[in-house]
Amino acid sequence: MPGTLFSPIKLGGLELDNRIVVSPMCQYSAVDGCATDWHLAHLGMLANSGAGLVIVEATHVERHGRITHGCMGLYSDESEAALKRVIDFCRRAGTAKLGIQLAHAGRKASAQRPWEGGRPLKPGQDPWDTIAPSALPFGPGWHTPRAMAAHDFARVRGAFAAAAQRAVRIGFDAIELHMAHGYLAHSFMSPIANRRADEYGGSLENRMRFPREIAEAVRQVVPHTIALGARITGSDWIDGAWAPADAVFCAKTLKAAGVDYVDVSSGGISSDARTPTTQGYNADIAAQVRATGIATRTVGLIVTAQQAEAIVADGKADMVALARAALDDPHWGWHAARTLGADVKRPNQYLRSAPALWPGAAVAR
Ligand SMILES: Cc1cc2nc3c(=O)[nH]c(=O)nc-3n(C[C@H](O)[C@H](O)[C@H](O)COP(=O)(O)O)c2cc1C
Repeated sequence: MPGTLFSPIKLGGLELDNRIVVSPMCQYSAVDGCATDWHLAHLGMLANSGAGLVIVEATHVERHGRITHGCMGLYSDESEAALKRVIDFCRRAGTAKLGIQLAHAGRKASAQRPWEGGRPLKPGQDPWDTIAPSALPFGPGWHTPRAMAAHDFARVRGAFAAAAQRAVRIGFDAIELHMAHGYLAHSFMSPIANRRADEYGGSLENRMRFPREIAEAVRQVVPHTIALGARITGSDWIDGAWAPADAVFCAKTLKAAGVDYVDVSSGGISSDARTPTTQGYNADIAAQVRATGIATRTVGLIVTAQQAEAIVADGKADMVALARAALDDPHWGWHAARTLGADVKRPNQYLRSAPALWPGAAVAR
């Protein structure tokens, strides 16, 4: 049964007040994986956006799995303590439930921050060796990754599980695996990046093997009171590559591995693939994935309250995620509630903002 944007939803053992999610967004502002005061301000603000759930940016499970030198990690006691400080603050100050995206950048690692060019790190910029299913670069000029060997599989699986245990200790409500945007897990799933001839390549089932193993390893250490999700790829937007039917298979596989929900995103597998720029461009793919019975979120140019409400009410997705619109308007959820005649939790300090928004309301001091 479709809900409405401001109705609650259960994801495994987690209940959200509404179906608005702040999408994970890299801030490139960490120091050796450790969150900084920037994260305190950024996440503290978004914890009061009116969203039911805020997902912390791609947080990498090993140092060499980071995209840039400024990316977050959860691979050391220092990075765990730094993130705990931020999350404890968001709990005290904010209203949203809190999730984290665990990631490994694979062949897209060792890159410059976007505002430094977003290209692969050059000699002298402390680049590092990257890994991938096959020794194929992301695009011209990118690092050629090393094809993963048996010991890499064991290490990366273990790193995902160890980072998930750190996330559990920090007290997250949801843990989400990054299996999209061309990073390591997606690069196994897509025939564009995966040319392996062993049990991890070839058929769709084989290409899903490593992502499935990661999900199983993480589920084993994440109690069912915490929602486990995955951001998956709806399409590579390349003819003959990953397509919506593959996303349906992926969702079924992950559900069987214990994943409670998926988020349908798309694109990013190679430097020459182009992602659409139409509003809600992943929503129709999400509808196909949702038909499998797994709780489904979608993302991608969801901008207005009415658009978000229609995606949920029409049953295309159970939740929506917003990235750029949430940066542009950090109280997006408050304003959507006003537009749709609903209400959201606000912190005590800001309670008087609600009536003040309505025409004719008095502002008593
Ligand atoms: C600044 C910024 C950082 C992002 N970082 C991440 C990330 O860490 N993990 C991820 O899965 N997607 C990331 N994305 C993609 C967004 O989560 C989202 O999927 C994409 O921007 C489309 O949604 P939008 O149209 O609402 O912005 C990022 C996007 C932006 C704008």
